[in-house]
Amino acid sequence: MSDVALVTGASSGIGAEFAKQLSAGGYEVILVARRAELMEQMAAQLSRPAHVIACDLVHDAPSLASRVADLGLQVDLLVNNAGFGTHGRFAAVDAAREAEEVRLNCEALVTLTHAFLPGMIERGRGGVITVASTAGMQPIPYEATYSASKAFARTFSDALSAELRGTGVRVLCVNPGPVPTDWQRVAGYDPDYLPPVPGKITAARVAKESLRAFQRGRRTIIPGFVMRWYMRINSPAPLPLKLRVVERMYRPAR
Ligand SMILES: NC(=O)c1ccc[n+]([C@@H]2O[C@H](COP(=O)([O-])OP(=O)(O)OC[C@H]3O[C@@H](n4cnc5c(N)ncnc54)[C@H](OP(=O)(O)O)[C@@H]3O)[C@@H](O)[C@H]2O)c1
Repeated sequence: MSDVALVTGASSGIGAEFAKQLSAGGYEVILVARRAELMEQMAAQLSRPAHVIACDLVHDAPSLASRVADLGLQVDLLVNNAGFGTHGRFAAVDAAREAEEVRLNCEALVTLTHAFLPGMIERGRGGVITVASTAGMQPIPYEATYSASKAFARTFSDALSAELRGTGVRVLCVNPGPVPTDWQRVAGYDPDYLPPVPGKITAARVAKESLRAFQRGRRTIIPGFVMRWYMRINSPAPLPLKLRVVERMYRPAR
């Protein structure tokens, strides 16, 4: 019997690439997102039989575990990837949308990890991959909620990795820089917008480097050589200086 991987946000971008590569690597994949049709099309093209669960994780994350159990499956690898961003002057953005962002990027992550982790610990094997962001490595003005939600994801994942040492369950935090996907459009940017930083890489490369890091038992990764070095060079800078520079970089035109 092959191992089962559940990938959230599998209908597009980085999650779709995780699903393809995990399937090609021998996993039986469960695709989770809202757009069922896209996932059904993807599932039909995967290397191995796959399952589709349409689920709005802002509202229905607690129901996912029982829907997986209804399929007669247990999850060996959870990929917490679903997420979205928002941008703009915080006082002017839609409050309900910001709250949904926290519910998806933080609350669903906690709910799903808590639902699937005990089984992995009991079996003495498994893994949790969480897609955070380099946006979680320093506060980003005008993406305040998004960068804070990704800092949450990073801290949560890093803490769990230490907690689970010796259990057989591996925990990896993935911190991509700019990746051209639907993220930019969903966040309200021009679809071809990318932040003013170097090191853009493809979703396929994010998934590939992440899965390699997971196999090697790494705790955290910044995919892409250029982004990795950009963050390494920037990290010693004092926070007040970073905040001033990043505020200018991300300041909306109006
Ligand atoms: N692109 C980047 O530059 C970048 C950089 C760093 C980190 N990230 C992170 O990488 C992850 C994947 O993003 P992406 O770049 O691949 O963007 P994407 O193409 O927009 O993918 C986002 C995925 O999340 C799913 N999703 C959104 N809202 C959902 C909800 N309420 N319930 C269930 N699923 C939901 C979407 O599916 P449905 O719409 O079908 O529900 C989609 O499959 C996110 O956590 C993002 O923050 C992205």
